[in-house]
Amino acid sequence: MAEFLSEATIKERLDAGVPIVEFDHVSMRFDANEVLRSVSFKVAHGETRVILGPAGVGKSVLMKLANGLLMPDSGEVRVLGRSLNEMNESEMFAMRAHVGMVFQESALFDSINVEDNVAYRLEEEHVPPAEIHARVVEALQFVELEKAIAKFPPELSGGMRRRVSIARAIVSRPQLILYDSPTGGLDPITSTTIIELVVKQRDVSHTTSLLITHRLQDAFTLATHHFDQQTGHMEPIPDGGIDPGTKFLVINEGRVVFDGTTQELVRSDDPWLKAYLS
Ligand SMILES: Nc1ncnc2c1ncn2[C@@H]1O[C@H](COP(=O)(O)OP(=O)(O)OP(=O)(O)O)[C@@H](O)[C@H]1O
Ligand SMILES: [Mg+2]
Repeated sequence: MAEFLSEATIKERLDAGVPIVEFDHVSMRFDANEVLRSVSFKVAHGETRVILGPAGVGKSVLMKLANGLLMPDSGEVRVLGRSLNEMNESEMFAMRAHVGMVFQESALFDSINVEDNVAYRLEEEHVPPAEIHARVVEALQFVELEKAIAKFPPELSGGMRRRVSIARAIVSRPQLILYDSPTGGLDPITSTTIIELVVKQRDVSHTTSLLITHRLQDAFTLATHHFDQQTGHMEPIPDGGIDPGTKFLVINEGRVVFDGTTQELVRSDDPWLKAYLS
């Protein structure tokens, strides 16, 4: 199999501060529909980047560009410094082994059980079968769903399906997790349990992530909470603290209208942004 980057090169680039993902003047259109217009931003190692914006502005398209499921019309997407434009299919496949994706609609296979749904990426990567089972159990334990290992997706609630989808994204121990609207369609309480998993992944495994959400509540929960290893739960950061690694990207009408920290976001004077956040 072709290689994306050797483990040594990945480590070297992480140490040198090369962004995990970088969009460099990326534009994307579907026929006359100009979806993204010269979008540029960087996501540093360890960062959680929350992507906000109205429905249909191109958030999912942006995420698909980040792992090469779509290619830009112009500009460049780089993952760990490597341009996706210049990769062939097999290098792209190798790159995706480092990226876990939680799709907007969970996208599980209904006809195979939870274990096989979580395992299939590892099978594609030819991980030895004995190791696969242990890794699947570990990922399901992380999302607190090990009891459902033999169930089929149609037997699960929406929140449980989302958990399986997260287990599938983390099972390959990726460098980057892409969460597309992980709380979409869930009730507020279930949504909070999913955000708790994202916070746990961020604070325990320190995996870089991009997360799309329509719920401002999710965004602010992410910014103001941390995972407490002692209690095993998400707790508010004491004294009104803000997680420094959680940053925001707001997209509207194909353009980046905000790129910065939580504090900068809430203090912004931009009239559109203030209206959107209120
Ligand atoms: N494969 C495709 N072919 C044609 N048009 C597409 C394709 N994928 C997305 N689009 C268009 O691109 C635009 C942005 O879609 P996208 O799914 O990224 O929106 P979004 O911001 O994720 O919306 P939502 O918040 O509803 O999930 C829409 O106008 C959509 O119709
Ligand atoms: Mg979307």
